[in-house]
Amino acid sequence: MSKPATQAPILAVQGLTKTYPDAGGGQITVLSSIDLTLHPGQSAAIVGPSGCGKTTLLNVIGTLDTPTAGTVSIAGNDITALNEKQRAETRAKQIGFVFQEHHLLPQCNALENALIPTLAKGVDRKSGEQRAADLLERVGLGDRLHHRPDALSGGQRQRVAIVRALINRPALLLVDEPTGALDSKTAGQIMDLLIELNQAEQTAMLMVTHADALAARLDRTLRLEQGQITAGADA
Ligand SMILES: Nc1ncnc2c1ncn2[C@@H]1O[C@H](COP(=O)(O)OP(=O)(O)OP(=O)(O)O)[C@@H](O)[C@H]1O
Ligand SMILES: [Mg+2]
Repeated sequence: MSKPATQAPILAVQGLTKTYPDAGGGQITVLSSIDLTLHPGQSAAIVGPSGCGKTTLLNVIGTLDTPTAGTVSIAGNDITALNEKQRAETRAKQIGFVFQEHHLLPQCNALENALIPTLAKGVDRKSGEQRAADLLERVGLGDRLHHRPDALSGGQRQRVAIVRALINRPALLLVDEPTGALDSKTAGQIMDLLIELNQAEQTAMLMVTHADALAARLDRTLRLEQGQITAGADA
């Protein structure tokens, strides 16, 4: 649900531009002067064709890549002004990231993988384990807590990665195609969980998805085309 504009935004992106060098020695502009604001409890889908810059946008917002121009503020702090150590701290404390590829640690079981972000945040082990077990149960993995990634299906690994992103109650959740490997029923359950936590914990959620039915469940849909948001931009 939309929140009053008076509330401080969790995410404020202004004039965000990202260029990469191209093979011919020039520059390719992937993102061109993007503006985007998300308040607590708000969610938005990002849609657009393959290669249009969706993952790049999440990476820059999530401090994994740096913008060529523009600012990204998370909970009022301009992350583009931070050094690498401060950016890592912001990432650990305020951002949950569900990557397009799951990046689970192969030597750790589902529960241990889900708990990894709590190490950086210094969460009490018991309460971390409780939340991890609860969330793993919620995504249908209650009987898989001690399985390692190679003993999980692709969709089960993706669900562990989603729990790992949620474990620290991040203010900002960045999600890149969370349901790509899931059947529609499981995808719907994952969406139920993400939307419920978005509301209950008043986070801001930005999700890349190719599934129109899933995008339609979020507050708004941003269409990314030729580096710009061509629909669903900030009012
Ligand atoms: N490190 C890089 N160096 C050069 N070009 C890059 C780099 N990373 C991404 N690009 C280019 O930026 C464009 C956007 O890539 P991005 O991964 O953001 O697309 P996407 O919208 O997430 O696509 P998909 O739906 O296939 O995941 C692509 O043309 C890609 O080749
Ligand atoms: Mg992508």
